[in-house]
Amino acid sequence: MSKPAVLVTRIIPEKGLALLRAETNLQVWPGDLPPSRVDLLELVKGKSGILCMLSDPMDKEIITAASPELKVISTYAVGYDNIDIQEATRRHIFVGNTPGILTNATADFAWALLMAAARRLPEGERHVRTGAWQTWSPSTLLGTDFKDSTLGIIGFGRIGQAVARRASGFDMHVLFYSPSHPPVEGIYAQKVSDLDELLGRSDFISLHVPLTPHTKHLVNAQFLAKMKPGAILVNTSRGAVVDQDALYHALKEKYIAAAALDVTDPEPLPVDHPLLTLENCLITPHIATAGRQTREKMAVVAAQNLLAGLHGTPLPYCINPQANKARDL
Ligand code: DGY
Repeated sequence: MSKPAVLVTRIIPEKGLALLRAETNLQVWPGDLPPSRVDLLELVKGKSGILCMLSDPMDKEIITAASPELKVISTYAVGYDNIDIQEATRRHIFVGNTPGILTNATADFAWALLMAAARRLPEGERHVRTGAWQTWSPSTLLGTDFKDSTLGIIGFGRIGQAVARRASGFDMHVLFYSPSHPPVEGIYAQKVSDLDELLGRSDFISLHVPLTPHTKHLVNAQFLAKMKPGAILVNTSRGAVVDQDALYHALKEKYIAAAALDVTDPEPLPVDHPLLTLENCLITPHIATAGRQTREKMAVVAAQNLLAGLHGTPLPYCINPQANKARDL
């Protein structure tokens, strides 16, 4: 019997590829850059499974081009805003993701950003390299202390909770806003039911919500105006959760002290983007999950999701188990 045809849209760690190679007729897109839309439309044809990246649009047109053979889409990410879940479900195509595995890496990185922005690490480094450092001074690059400050977490799923856990070592107060999550035993974090309360009380705000129509531009001019003057914003979720024009103005006017973003809209952010002219805006290239061990585990889980979808067994991590229901084509 011939093996099912599978596409992997980037070179992922070998452990994941090896699992797929053993059981499928595997095609791996070899480029560092994503396939163009034209290439992608061609590549997906006749594939029973697609292992995609968050930068590959799995929209209606792409899913249609891969149908009717396509049985499973496995994304190498926890976020799945690039996938038309409704269309996949309608076509009886399972969609899998990689939650859990990347929680610690992402929470660690949110903290790395928070600390770098609070203590002005990138500015300090530039200070040294440009020769601006002339002597020790009582006022050079003063930042924000952590002890007794308040961290506000928006979105209290796995990653938000892991960020809260890490705060306990810094003697901070922790608030969270997340209508669907109750407080968690063992995590010192106070739930607030009013977002404005969190905005007004927090010295640091860290975003941990998925991108949905509801969270797009959640951080807009009104949101920023309700933040505590001098507060710091950290985003490791999705770029479009923040209205970047509004953020630019809040940072430029120094209404908030700083922002640290691992995600932007678009990605990559054009090098002439106004945010990149600001000393108080730290931007990294969407690398919160980029720990070697984390990425390897993600590759294995993404491969396992894909193989389960091909075999018709439950995906270890399935976003749309309801795809099982009757087909409507
Ligand atoms: C995710 O998994 O959604 C991250 O943003 C990238 O790994």
